[in-house]
Amino acid sequence: MADRHLVRFEPVGIEIEVGEEQTILRAAAEQGLMLMHGCKEGQCAACKSFVLDGEDIELDKYSTFALPDFEKDEGFTLLCRAHVYEDVTIELLHYDEELIKSGLPLQRATAEVAAIEEVTHDLRHVTLTLLDPTELRYFPGQYVDVTVPHHGVTRSFSMANTPTGRAGTLEFVIKVYPDGHFSSLLAGGGLSVGDRVEVVGPYGVFTLREGSDARIVLVGGGAGMAPILALLRALAERGSGRDIVFYYGARTTRDLCFEDELHELERALPRFRYVPALSEPDSADSAGWDGETGFVTDVLKRREESLTGAHAYVCGPPPMVEAAMPVLEGLGVEERRIYYDKFTTTGNAEK
Ligand SMILES: Cc1cc2nc3c(=O)[nH]c(=O)nc-3n(C[C@H](O)[C@H](O)[C@H](O)COP(=O)(O)OP(=O)(O)OC[C@H]3O[C@@H](n4cnc5c(N)ncnc54)[C@H](O)[C@@H]3O)c2cc1C
Ligand code: FES
Repeated sequence: MADRHLVRFEPVGIEIEVGEEQTILRAAAEQGLMLMHGCKEGQCAACKSFVLDGEDIELDKYSTFALPDFEKDEGFTLLCRAHVYEDVTIELLHYDEELIKSGLPLQRATAEVAAIEEVTHDLRHVTLTLLDPTELRYFPGQYVDVTVPHHGVTRSFSMANTPTGRAGTLEFVIKVYPDGHFSSLLAGGGLSVGDRVEVVGPYGVFTLREGSDARIVLVGGGAGMAPILALLRALAERGSGRDIVFYYGARTTRDLCFEDELHELERALPRFRYVPALSEPDSADSAGWDGETGFVTDVLKRREESLTGAHAYVCGPPPMVEAAMPVLEGLGVEERRIYYDKFTTTGNAEK
């Protein structure tokens, strides 16, 4: 067995043991420690931290967008890529005291594809039935890694359902890329109802911060619908009275999905409003649209005067998430109250 070393996290003063074959993030997740992370693949920078003490650290392949060379030279590292070969001390740049010790240890499950429904021309609503074990614990908003055994492809997908809503099942909203290794299996019949997949999780920190009555602003695009739907469903299950607004960006009406359920949620949650925004409303299929138009971030800016004190949850393609951050901060949301998941794809790693 490979050697293990002590990793100490500051300023929280927590220590864990990490095997040389594991990344620091993986070891933490296995021990139920919820450190900030997103892609786990060195692409999104969410796990960026600073090495206070120790030098013998090696990184797996990562993108220099996430960790430019000058930052690496200054002592920054990516916990999802870092292997340690001596005891080290790491300063966590972003951490959430409410969450850090509340993590659920990683679980592994076998599941069967129960349904694949077309909810738009390029989004599929995929339902898995858990076979062994028949339950998986997670918080609404989290994601799992799904592996299709015969194809050997693993991708991350966020659950759209709550663990209590439809126990024993995992629901996802998956965007089909014509040349996507995983998603083209859904469209091309490579993955069908009855097929088995392997699931590992839960991962992710895109979870509801409860114990607060703060206003909630949800901003999503594309398959970013999935974890936001999970948060809304969870809020409805709890009969939340919080003031909630969901800005969803789509190109045309063809790209809108779960509309009936979202309007149903507006009835179930007395202070919830759903605001879809079309960025290309001129196309023929959007004729007659009387809702918002423009990029979702512009619509947000136009409709909100101040979001001081609000909690924001942003999820979808990386450019949309990156565009939303300064807009939300400009409207008064504290940086530490902007929770996000960037749906990075695996195709961009550089090193
Ligand atoms: C935390 C997290 C949660 C996520 N949740 C969801 C979710 O709920 N729903 C969802 O749909 N997706 C989600 N994703 C994205 C998902 O994991 C996959 O990355 C996505 O589905 C694409 O996988 P694929 O195998 O179909 O495509 P890939 O084969 O990975 O290709 C994706 C895109 O990258 C391009 N590409 C491939 N290889 C390269 C290369 N070498 N250089 C440049 N470009 C390349 C392809 O052309 C394609 O456009 C999530 C990602 C993260 C990190
Ligand atoms: S989680 Fe480490 S770079 Fe995305």
